Amino acid sequence: MVVPVLILVAVLGAAPRAALSLELVAPAEECSFSDGKVVVIGMGTKSPTGQGKLKWEGGEVPLSARAGRFYGAATLSPGTHEATLTFGDETLELCWAVSPQVPAKQYEYHPGVTNLECKTCHDPEAPPPPSQDTGPLCYGCHTKYTARSAVHQPVTKGLCTACHDPHGSINPAFLRRSAVELCQTCHNRPIDKAHEKHKDDEPCTECHDPHGSSRAHNLRRR
Ligand code: HEC
Ligand code: HEC
Ligand code: HEC
Ligand code: HEC
Ligand code: HEC
Repeated sequence: MVVPVLILVAVLGAAPRAALSLELVAPAEECSFSDGKVVVIGMGTKSPTGQGKLKWEGGEVPLSARAGRFYGAATLSPGTHEATLTFGDETLELCWAVSPQVPAKQYEYHPGVTNLECKTCHDPEAPPPPSQDTGPLCYGCHTKYTARSAVHQPVTKGLCTACHDPHGSINPAFLRRSAVELCQTCHNRPIDKAHEKHKDDEPCTECHDPHGSSRAHNLRRR
């Protein structure tokens, strides 16, 4: 059990990053999966156009790009895979591990993505712009938070994707960042009596509900 974890960490730490216009929307460039069903979603500012490919030791799948966006599905065997995603002269280097035993950086997809049911949310070639009001879309399947008396402002505005990645994530609840970093993308921790004992590495959500609550300041309890 210990050996595969060490190998994964060593490989994940190694891959260098070049500045490219190719961008992976899902999954993460370095992550592991509990099974081998991988769907890549990406886009590019100048490329991609035309035919690209995702290649790894075990195989290759074509990816076609339209409107600057591409997606495709691959099935990877268990183990660690160094993969490349290529369009024209641009290449993204990826490192993926398929192993049910590796919990570190394990990527989970939101339902609808691995079975290519993109259209339950949007036309894959005409996705909505980031961090717009996705409330009506998400509330089509999820319980509304807006009935609470102290709704957190980004939730009121339907900015679900400011915090959640709609395609998947390595973090619980498909969060874009770890629970500790997430709130600090928009807030500093207040310096006052209520927060003086709070350590920087403890998530704000221990005390605050991220969506809102029936108590002032979105507190979970008083
Ligand atoms: C659960 C709903 C949902 C599903 C399923 C879904 N998407 Fe999306 N997608 C979104 C939302 C919402 C956005 C808006 C971008 C944001 O806020 O991050 C988006 C954005 C995108 C983007 C642009 C990314 C960006 O940052 O601008 C691409 C490309 C994309 N989706 C492709 C796909 C493809 C291909 C599929 C199917 C394999 C798919 N999506 C399935 C909800 C979904
Ligand atoms: C077509 C239905 C559908 C739509 C639309 C949809 N989801 Fe989901 N979502 C699901 C299902 C099914 C699950 C898995 C079961 C569950 O945990 O509720 C899920 C799971 C989640 C989870 C994890 C729940 C947990 O308990 O960990 C989050 C977070 C989430 N979705 C956010 C969103 C966001 C944000 C949007 C809008 C961009 C969205 N979903 C749109 C069906 C949907
Ligand atoms: C400010 C960040 C933030 C915003 C904005 C946000 N969420 Fe969340 N969400 C979280 C966090 C953090 C969790 C993890 C559970 C927790 O800490 O309570 C979560 C959990 C969830 C879950 C899992 C079940 C639950 O209630 O815990 C669903 C479903 C979900 N969010 C849907 C949504 C939808 C739909 C929207 C938009 C209307 C939204 N979220 C907006 C941060 C956010
Ligand atoms: C996308 C930006 C954004 C993110 C991410 C975000 N917030 Fe907020 N939050 C706001 C805005 C805007 C307000 C309203 C203005 C203000 O009070 O600063 C607010 C207000 C608050 C308030 C004050 C509510 C009140 O009634 O006094 C609390 C508490 C809070 N946020 C906690 C959190 C926590 C906890 C997280 C992480 C789960 C988080 N925020 C993540 C934007 C954000
Ligand atoms: C140990 C519990 C606890 C934790 C953890 C915590 N808070 Fe608070 N927070 C409170 C309490 C209690 C209040 C209400 C204070 C009052 O009534 O004056 C509050 C109020 C707030 C407010 C609104 C009032 C103000 O001072 O501006 C914001 C914004 C806020 N917290 C942000 C955060 C952020 C961001 C984090 C994480 C970095 C965080 N809190 C972590 C307990 C906590």
